[in-house]
Amino acid sequence: MLRRWHRRYGDVFTVRLLGFGTGVYVAEPQAIRELFTGDQSDLLAGEANSFLEPVLGRHSVLVLDGPEHLRQRRLLLPPFQGSRVAAFRETVRDVAAREVDRWHPGDRLVLRARMRELTFEVICRAVFGVTEPSRVKRLRRALGAVIDTTSPALAIPALHADLGRFSPGGKLARRLHAADALLYEEIARRRAEPDLAERSDVLSLLLCARDEDGRAMTDAELRDELFTMLAAGHETTATGLAFAFDLLLRRPAELARVRAAIEAGQDAYLDAVTKETLRLRPVIDAAERTLTRPRTVAGYELPAGVKVYPGIALVHYRPDLYRQPEEFRPERFIDEQAESYTWLPFGGGIRRCIGAALAQMEIAEVLRAAIPRVDLRPLRTTEDPVVLRGITLVPKHGVPVSVERVRRGGPVPVSAPAPSGAATAT
Ligand code: HEM
Repeated sequence: MLRRWHRRYGDVFTVRLLGFGTGVYVAEPQAIRELFTGDQSDLLAGEANSFLEPVLGRHSVLVLDGPEHLRQRRLLLPPFQGSRVAAFRETVRDVAAREVDRWHPGDRLVLRARMRELTFEVICRAVFGVTEPSRVKRLRRALGAVIDTTSPALAIPALHADLGRFSPGGKLARRLHAADALLYEEIARRRAEPDLAERSDVLSLLLCARDEDGRAMTDAELRDELFTMLAAGHETTATGLAFAFDLLLRRPAELARVRAAIEAGQDAYLDAVTKETLRLRPVIDAAERTLTRPRTVAGYELPAGVKVYPGIALVHYRPDLYRQPEEFRPERFIDEQAESYTWLPFGGGIRRCIGAALAQMEIAEVLRAAIPRVDLRPLRTTEDPVVLRGITLVPKHGVPVSVERVRRGGPVPVSAPAPSGAATAT
């Protein structure tokens, strides 16, 4: 629908939806660059996520705006920067290899579900620093139960009010209580670890972090950010992975090329597959900013209160930026000249996704673990339709496949540069 409106009304168009107010979609890279650079103090983004506050908590970087948002963000960013993420690569490889080892000829898998399990475990180990299988299992059960009870309907206060055991709010409150108990337990255990200062998981780094005034994060802040990283980081990455498999498995030439590149230890094509997947199948179709003051956007004077949507999916499908934009052509990220603000799967500016480098590395590493070892066959004759679920775009059926052949053998060669932050191509 958005793409139809884009074709019909051009690069800037207004949408008025009942309950959402006035929104202006912007599909012009230059106008998006202006929103994502310079002073952004007149742009709110946390407000739009406030429906998540009952679960993520009031300290979550996702729901905050203004100086408090910047404080949390500055504390959270260092553990997710290049060299730190490189340190998580081994963890991801290990989790991915163990997942693929469980696949046998004749198995039928729903890839998005398998990838959810995998990305959950990556967050548990790399972010929470929890590696003991029994503890990972407990966290999976407790946090998964909360996530499964969470929906945009939480925006309606009556739905998250605890009206007794059998009410949706009551169920959520009980599950939250159990999940919080585990998270606070992990925080307390970690605080007491003698090797805290040498550990590289995100929780340990956050426990040692100090803000500009020398203040450490409180337990409540840590709990909220752990939940936020899990909520923001595991389903999104799992969805990206499911899309990557669906796109590759239906394209023998690209599949053969990525397999050969992996076997030769050349990462450029593998990284290009990751970028092209997130271009053609962005998991989030638009960022959102609410204006607190009037602002000129793409040449239009917009009043305070208007929501501006930098149109991620719209930019990704512009034929003047990407030749034959409907086609999956990873080589476009190798062959052609890069330009800024044309590749936006992780949004931008002071709200750009904190986990962008981790997510790209994860997608590449899982493909590296799976593609040379297993032949998968899609069970659907055509590509899985893309549908909106909650606030993300997902493959409707989760990409069901059958395992045709498994090659056991030696390790796959690796040469792995840190993924670049902003990737663009024509
Ligand atoms: C393919 C996977 C992912 C996609 C497509 C994705 C996409 C996004 C997008 C579009 C935003 C909003 C940016 C904006 O408004 O400009 C965002 C924010 C965020 N993401 Fe991701 N994300 C992914 C993985 C992750 C991971 C792995 C983590 C952490 C472990 C993470 C943590 C966050 C956080 C904390 C924010 C809020 C940043 C802020 O408000 O300052 N994401 N993500």
